[in-house]
Formats: sequence, C-alpha cells, structure tokens
Amino acid sequence: MKLDTIRNEYNLSALTKKNVDTNPFRQFENWLKAALYSKEKEPTAMSLSTIGTDGFPDSRIVLLKFFNENGFVFFTNYSSEKGKSIEKNPAVSLHFFWPSLERQIRISGKAEKTNHGISEKYFIERPFDSQIAAWASEQSKEIPSREFLEKRFEEYKKTFENNTPKLPPFWGGYNVVPQKFEFWQGRVNRLHDRILYEKNEKIWTIKRLAP
Ligand SMILES: Cc1cc2nc3c(=O)[nH]c(=O)nc-3n(C[C@H](O)[C@H](O)[C@H](O)COP(=O)(O)O)c2cc1C
Repeated sequence: MKLDTIRNEYNLSALTKKNVDTNPFRQFENWLKAALYSKEKEPTAMSLSTIGTDGFPDSRIVLLKFFNENGFVFFTNYSSEKGKSIEKNPAVSLHFFWPSLERQIRISGKAEKTNHGISEKYFIERPFDSQIAAWASEQSKEIPSREFLEKRFEEYKKTFENNTPKLPPFWGGYNVVPQKFEFWQGRVNRLHDRILYEKNEKIWTIKRLAP
C-alpha cells in the first residue's frame, strides 16, 4: 500500500475575513446548508472529542440534531464512556469534515445536559426500533455476545409492545456551548484558509491563522 504519493489539490472555494459572516453561528449555518445540498452521506456527522476519564483524549462520531445560538445538540446514553467523560470534564470539541466541499469546522466549548423536555420530545419522535435500541444497549459496557444484545432488544420490544416507550432515565441530549470556532477551506499549494472566531466577553473576534 503506497500512501505517501496520495495527493489531492483543493481549489473549490476561498474564505476571507471579509466574506465570512461576523456571527459564527450564521457562518456555520451557511456551511451546513451547503453540506446538506452536497453529496456528503452524513453531513450532520461530527466527531465529538472528550477528555477521557483516563486523562487521554477520545473521539467518536455523533449526529448533530439541533443548533442555534445557545449551542449544538446531540443525543446519547448518559452512562456511556463519553457521558462519564463529560461528567468529569465538560470541555469538548466538535469536528465536521466535508471532503466534497474541501471544508472542516472545529468547535470547542462546554457540554451540558439538555433539559428533560428537549430529550423527551426528541426521543418520542424516534422510530420505535431506535427507541428500543436505546433501552437495550448499555452503551460502552462489555457484553458477552451479539446474541445477548439481540435478546435484550427482543425483550424490550415485548415490554413496550402495548405502550409507547418512555424516555430512558439514562438517555438524553447534550448541548455544547461554543467558545471557539475555526472554519477551514482547502486552497491550492496547501495555502489553506483558516478563520478563527473567539468569544471575548460577549463579542466574537475574527482572526486569520496560518495554514
Ligand atoms: C455515523 C455515525 C453516527 C453516530 N451517531 C451517534 C449518536 O448520535 N449518538 C451516539 O451516542 N452514538 C452515535 N454513534 C456511535 C458513536 O460513534 C460511539 O460508537 C458510541 O456513542 C459509543 O461511544 P463512547 O463509548 O465513547 O461513549 C454514531 C456513529 C456513527 C459512525
């Protein structure tokens, strides 16, 4: 396998301090819209990095479900590894990569649990089988086999066959409140554009970074 000769040039677009929105949430919305209309298969997929309970950074993909100026919301199992990490240290980062647009976005901030109402509203809109899967999976715990998981799934299906599954007490949303955004646009000759937004008091300042 020869990896060192793989080279892609990036030349689709450009980013300047003048052409970005002064508000990073609006800038995010513009880029997310472009990603939703692009051929990306999972445009709302983002890598969530946490400081693990062992002190090492850890990353995994989660799906962005809502965002506004209050933050970026994803849903998960609160007892999972990521849930434990956030409990210990709420500092997290979110990372989007949309290769077909030659773009990445880095966001860092603090994660907090969403209120019960937001989690419940989202949970009851999920398909039945996804609701059952949330009940059946003790996310991140060791399990003896695939059969064990499928058996639990069938058991919870029976439990809820005559009534709508309730929101599990161990499941819900996190809202990430950003304090920094970086928008990256690939350019020719590796001279990429990087625009950083940082929050000082309530004002977002904008800087250009070297690629
Ligand atoms: C495309 C994709 C979407 C995913 N979406 C979610 C999600 O929204 N919530 C979630 O808890 N896990 C999601 N996962 C699974 C996580 O990446 C991860 O395996 C799981 O949350 C356990 O992580 P943890 O042990 O670090 O807590 C997704 C995985 C992929 C590849």
